[in-house]
Amino acid sequence: MTQDELKKSVALAAIDYIKPKLSSDTIVGIGTGSTANFFIDALAELKDLFAGTVASSESSAERLRSHGIEVFELNSVDNVSLYVDGADESNHALQLIKGGGAALTREKIVTAVADEFICIADESKLVEGLGAFPLPVEVIPMARSHVGRELVKLGCSPVYREGVITDNNNIIIDCYDFPINEAINIERAINNIVGVVTNGLFAERPADVLLLATQQGVKTLR
Ligand code: 5RP
Repeated sequence: MTQDELKKSVALAAIDYIKPKLSSDTIVGIGTGSTANFFIDALAELKDLFAGTVASSESSAERLRSHGIEVFELNSVDNVSLYVDGADESNHALQLIKGGGAALTREKIVTAVADEFICIADESKLVEGLGAFPLPVEVIPMARSHVGRELVKLGCSPVYREGVITDNNNIIIDCYDFPINEAINIERAINNIVGVVTNGLFAERPADVLLLATQQGVKTLR
């Protein structure tokens, strides 16, 4: 199977996983990216089985609406039962790097609210140690240089992602050459830099379950 076929297979596995958990008042949180897009497309068939969704990006919201799936503002719902999203890397503790698509802040907000975070990924995303994928950091534009200098002090090589403005009108700095051993400490240290909105480490709140597409089928990791 190609990588796209693996992504589609895990999106369909996520549909099977969530279907028994849906009821007429269920709100499903929806991630961002190509794997999440396969999930959105498949979710259209179930749209009468749940109340609606909250989206982690404008692009996902638009795709959901194009299928006639209701999208609510997060502030207008009481509870998000399930959140389904992809990842750029996962370790075996289901701590993630996310934000390759620059949607990390809204993704982290929906993750924080959700009762269950179901991560969907192809097998290339499972790693022994996080950090080969450059860690994205969302930054208030006027703090770009300050945050860059502070990131260097933490031991990485920061690179401004040219031409990218997030849904929150901020910029992204990607942290290269940054092996991540103590993920929770690094997540906290970066978030503590003034001017950082958040970073793409999902370590304090990892995924609850990882559905991983492999050539042998979809595996469930907890
Ligand atoms: C977007 C993300 C995505 O989940 C991550 O980049 C994975 O994307 P894809 O499913 O296209 O491989 O964090 O901000």
